[in-house]
Amino acid sequence: MTVTLVPPPAPRPPAVAAPLDVLGVPGQVNLDYAATAPCARVAADAVAELLPWYASVHRGAGALSRRCTLAYERARQTVGDFLGARAEDHVVFARNTTDALNLLARALPAGTTVVTFGGEHHANLLPWPRGSVRLPVPGDPAGAVRALDAALGELRRPGGSGPARPGAGHGPPVLVAVTAASNVTGERWPVAELARVARRHGARIAVDAAQLAPHAPVDVAALDVDYLAVSGHKLYAPFGAGVLVGRADWLDAAPPYLAGGGATSHVGAATHDVRWAAGPARHEAGTPNLLGAVALAAVCAALADADRAALHDAEQALLTRLREGIAALPHVLELRTFGPAAPRVGIVSFVVAGRDSAEVAAELAATYDIGVRDGLFCAHPLVRRLLGEAAARSGRRDLPPTALRASIGLGSTTGHVDRLLAALAALA
Ligand SMILES: Cc1ncc(COP(=O)(O)O)c(C=O)c1O
Repeated sequence: MTVTLVPPPAPRPPAVAAPLDVLGVPGQVNLDYAATAPCARVAADAVAELLPWYASVHRGAGALSRRCTLAYERARQTVGDFLGARAEDHVVFARNTTDALNLLARALPAGTTVVTFGGEHHANLLPWPRGSVRLPVPGDPAGAVRALDAALGELRRPGGSGPARPGAGHGPPVLVAVTAASNVTGERWPVAELARVARRHGARIAVDAAQLAPHAPVDVAALDVDYLAVSGHKLYAPFGAGVLVGRADWLDAAPPYLAGGGATSHVGAATHDVRWAAGPARHEAGTPNLLGAVALAAVCAALADADRAALHDAEQALLTRLREGIAALPHVLELRTFGPAAPRVGIVSFVVAGRDSAEVAAELAATYDIGVRDGLFCAHPLVRRLLGEAAARSGRRDLPPTALRASIGLGSTTGHVDRLLAALAALA
């Protein structure tokens, strides 16, 4: 037997791991970032680094505990800075955007009227009190601004329930609650203009930035909005940490979101003898999600250091490729609220004519290892409406009653997009 000595292959240079690399499983094409984005390496590293120090937060004098407390409060500062919190704002950790908006809903002064649009995610439709105003979905961003202006004008008319005078803030408060980017279409909403309108009418504005923050900078102060909510798991961090940033006064006056340890400054023997803490602690009773907060802060810090314009350009190039590819498939129809050229983040919803969306999603997964979302995307009123409009626009009668959604972000490639397009073409 002859033995051939094969020289070992030249060592490959180690792949350089960048902080904003995302984790994933080779071969699996994840096109479902809008539901939950993959975990960024920097988030995983931050968790791994802190795990040996795992100890109580705000509750211990030991070195481990003090480090954990410091890490948690530093995370609050980093996330607040990333979101442009003003010095006087509170940065409250919650579980996710749904939790953050429910917290805000519970902190509204009595009699507050909330004004939303019908295109919102359920997280920004359902928490608001009875009597909230739901405006129809406009045909373009300018229409949203006009509709809000008219609605707020109507609310503060004599006999209306809103503030008495523009900018004065008298009378029952009004809160406008809008998304910054739609989870269905990816379309961006004109948040700064809506904030100006709200301000002019003496209303406050809360922004659901769950879908915008992963794709573009959001800045509470620069947008001049009162509240902003995000989810860590859509921002390349693990599940379980979200944030509400915003004005301190309503939050400090409200009953605690959760009653319990950590939210009090004094508890006496009598059942009613409780003084609730002011500040974020008031709404963060119980042991907090330290790892979630620290991981989210690590992503925020890495994104703050990154060239976000370059990231945005790269994502937009992929999005254009995806949308143009879909437009070229006669049996696939994109859903949209605004015009086709409206600015949007890396999300596309569509239907395959004549095919059930759940079946298509299952086939994409089973045959092509592609993960997309199907259904009504927790925005039932909007998706039903857009499906009706797509049927009217195309004249087709064979559109399914639910939709598909592909969404991209850090780590997405042309290869991923092309694989989806090829699979959709093959479904014809
Ligand atoms: C625009 C928008 N708002 C709110 C939410 C709710 O986020 P979470 O499930 O993290 O609470 C989502 C989730 O998809 C969303 O897309």
